[in-house]
Amino acid sequence: MNRYYNSIFHWFNNDNAQYKLRGNNSESGLIAYATYILERLSPPHGASILDLGCGDGKILEKIIEIRPDLKCFGIDISPKLIKQAIDNTCQCHFEVGNVLDLKPFNEKFDIIFSFGLVQYIKHNDFIDLNRALLAKIKDNGIVCHLSIPDNRKKKIAVLSVLSEKHSTLLSILMLFLVHPFFKYNFFEDGSLWHNPMRLVKQMNTFSLSTISYPADLWYRFNMIIKKNDL
Ligand SMILES: C[S@@+](CC[C@H](N)C(=O)[O-])C[C@H]1O[C@@H](n2cnc3c(N)ncnc32)[C@H](O)[C@@H]1O
Repeated sequence: MNRYYNSIFHWFNNDNAQYKLRGNNSESGLIAYATYILERLSPPHGASILDLGCGDGKILEKIIEIRPDLKCFGIDISPKLIKQAIDNTCQCHFEVGNVLDLKPFNEKFDIIFSFGLVQYIKHNDFIDLNRALLAKIKDNGIVCHLSIPDNRKKKIAVLSVLSEKHSTLLSILMLFLVHPFFKYNFFEDGSLWHNPMRLVKQMNTFSLSTISYPADLWYRFNMIIKKNDL
């Protein structure tokens, strides 16, 4: 594994990793995420879906609860998270691995999707990743990259979280103090938390169907890629 993905591996392969996965871990939050994903994927009855960067599998678990007809698969770079995923749901097939190498899966899928993964993929790997993904989907299948963090909205999201516990004035002061840590492109380009918008621009040069939805907190757009797009 190269140095970059090795750093992602260490970031997500520890005992606290489940707290780094998503903003809302409550039951209703997980159901909302699963619903959000299903609305955008619209999987046909009995479809096979692969979740790239599935983390602890809690969202796939909710997806199965809502749509028990689906055949769900997940892959994540973190063995610790995949162990939790296997403990969380026995109804999906999970593999440990880098999404850049889908050899662990022999089959093709109706839908391959990611939820909050793209910002961890190096810019230079993104086109190759999508070519490899398109090779792993069935005819009429789709690849979707969903719910990508919007760093500009992140400050607003942080402010709303702070305001729940503190007065607005104190929250603004605290936001001012923590602001350097939420700076756009805080890590090196293509690193742990980079701006995925550049990836979208990169993809636009390949005439992709890029669909924008209104932002909900810091999530703002979804990429849908079909066969022959690349
Ligand atoms: C922000 S979390 C989202 C997890 C999950 N999709 C969810 O929403 O609950 C990003 C996940 O992507 C995984 N990940 C990041 N880069 C990866 C890569 N190159 N290959 C496989 N998994 C990766 C991380 O281990 C982490 O579980």
